[in-house]
Amino acid sequence: MSKHLDRLRDEHKDFDLNALSDVFSKDPFFAFQEWFDLACKSEQPEPNAVVLSTVDQLSMQPSSRVLYLKELRKKAFVFYTNYQSNKALEMESNPKVSLLFFWPGLQRQIRIQGVVTKIDPKESDAYFDSRPRSSQLGAWASEQSRVLKSREDLEQKSIEIGKEFPEKVERPDFWGGYAVAPVKFEFWQGRPSRLHDRIVFERSKDLWNTYRINP
Ligand SMILES: Cc1cc2nc3c(=O)[nH]c(=O)nc-3n(C[C@H](O)[C@H](O)[C@H](O)COP(=O)(O)O)c2cc1C
Repeated sequence: MSKHLDRLRDEHKDFDLNALSDVFSKDPFFAFQEWFDLACKSEQPEPNAVVLSTVDQLSMQPSSRVLYLKELRKKAFVFYTNYQSNKALEMESNPKVSLLFFWPGLQRQIRIQGVVTKIDPKESDAYFDSRPRSSQLGAWASEQSRVLKSREDLEQKSIEIGKEFPEKVERPDFWGGYAVAPVKFEFWQGRPSRLHDRIVFERSKDLWNTYRINP
């Protein structure tokens, strides 16, 4: 694995964002899609893993965790989780969040700041219906972020819920999707001698201002 990553790193170590000027002259979603597609094509481990950071409104304490990006919409990044989890409580009180993608083999990082909202329940239903039955039962069984007495309790609960839904498993109200609407992106490309490229897109009304910042 590490050899594979080293090879990719070598291939891209003089990767120049100027060469991508067509991508970067368009919009940041287009640029994101290009980078994401390459991350998938070049077999980065878990290319859709993303770190979501939230900040608790009262304590001002930041908190980060890995999630899977499930959909890239025209103007939003969608993920799914428990609506009563710690992250959900934090996002309810403070909808400002950040997303961080890191593809080590490409020496690339994308930072996104934005505002989160819940997606339409029908969209959450559609995604939930597409999940394997075991994941659906897991969503019901897990009181995410709450104290759990024992692993056996969790497994037993999943079995009991399976009996309640012998056929189709309905989506629990407490589980669904969120969409992050970005206000700022930063694309970071590792380059030799620490002269890395950093390109920022900042939203101003319906336009994106773009500029470079120092590494
Ligand atoms: C690779 C990976 C993918 C994950 N994907 C998700 C996900 O899509 N949704 C989710 O709720 N938790 C996911 N998790 C678990 C979260 O990192 C986290 O433990 C959980 O959401 C509870 O976070 P909270 O207590 O801050 O709310 C994932 C963890 C890893 C390591």
